[in-house]
Amino acid sequence: MSDDDLKPICEEHEIKGRRLSNRIRTEVENEVAELVAHHGVSPKLVTVIVGEDPGSQMYVRMKHKASNKAGILSDHHDLPETTTQAELLRLIKKLNDDASVHGILVQLPIPKHIDEKTIIGSINPLKDVDGFSPANVYRLFYGGEDLSAATPHGIVTILDRIGWNDLSGKHAVIINRSTIVGKPLIMLLLNRNATVTVCHSRTKDLPFFTRQADVLVSAIGRRTSEDDPFFITTDMVKEGAVVIDVATPLGDVDFENVKDKALCVTPVPGGVGPMTIAMLLKNLVSAYRAQMIE
Ligand code: GUN
Repeated sequence: MSDDDLKPICEEHEIKGRRLSNRIRTEVENEVAELVAHHGVSPKLVTVIVGEDPGSQMYVRMKHKASNKAGILSDHHDLPETTTQAELLRLIKKLNDDASVHGILVQLPIPKHIDEKTIIGSINPLKDVDGFSPANVYRLFYGGEDLSAATPHGIVTILDRIGWNDLSGKHAVIINRSTIVGKPLIMLLLNRNATVTVCHSRTKDLPFFTRQADVLVSAIGRRTSEDDPFFITTDMVKEGAVVIDVATPLGDVDFENVKDKALCVTPVPGGVGPMTIAMLLKNLVSAYRAQMIE
């Protein structure tokens, strides 16, 4: 055990996402070593990028680096912007049928001429390490959290590990309604008994809602420079709230000022981002276990 293992996850009002992520990654690394010793097969993640989204290459590179460090093999397919839906579906079928592949991740966004819902629906749910496929969303509706979406799962894991695992009587306000973050997060927060409100770009009087939040999760992500004003300022935050900033690469929250009013706040970078990676690795191990048992 290192000194870091003894340090709290929330220190001086700052949630140490990297510290928690490292702990989970070490747990995964140990679990992978045991599984490989038992089954004689290494878990394997395959990622796919289609087109030229500027963030995707970097995010996927980080996913590979973390996987490899945990003893997970990985492979990557970089497909041109002109790839057809049929070509992408063929690749996914090949990966679905390949027993050496335990996790498939198609990085979003994909080009507009390809239907995202069709692509996600074509991934074998057992290999869907993003938790986006219909079977995995359905499971989440019934309270199952294995193979749930990595970013929201990382958010509730932060809450769990700071002792906010039962949110009875607490109001959680999410600013985001995407399929990747906001919608799955509703279920994960309901599983923990929170009263949940979802705000989005058409919400009127956002501060009216944010000021009521015991847990405030912001994923607006529209700041393009350090000089742009923050979306979440101190006057919008309830005293003693837990504030989770999901926006990348520039946060939504005025971290330096909000942290003095809140119980704790995630920084950007070093908050939710590293947790997303840790939860992906956990999903990959769950997927591997499910496939090796059958
Ligand atoms: N794009 C942004 N976040 C994600 C994610 O969690 N998974 C995938 N596949 N694409 C993303």
